[in-house]
Amino acid sequence: MEFKVNEDLCIGCGACINLTNETVFKMNDEGFAYADNKEVNNNLEDAKMAVDACPTNAISIIEE
Ligand code: F3S
Repeated sequence: MEFKVNEDLCIGCGACINLTNETVFKMNDEGFAYADNKEVNNNLEDAKMAVDACPTNAISIIEE
């Protein structure tokens, strides 16, 4: 499973980053989140919580 952040929707609130302790989701230089999918397997449940927590529904799950 992989995650993807839509930068057009992200408002940089940081909820996804906090929920995953800056593992699966990190902030880029522009202040938007991006997904580091190398970290997903260790933090899958937290990453799923972040999908629900995002206020703008910017995070999508990409099923493999
Ligand atoms: Fe952006 Fe949503 Fe995370 S607004 S910082 S993708 S919780």
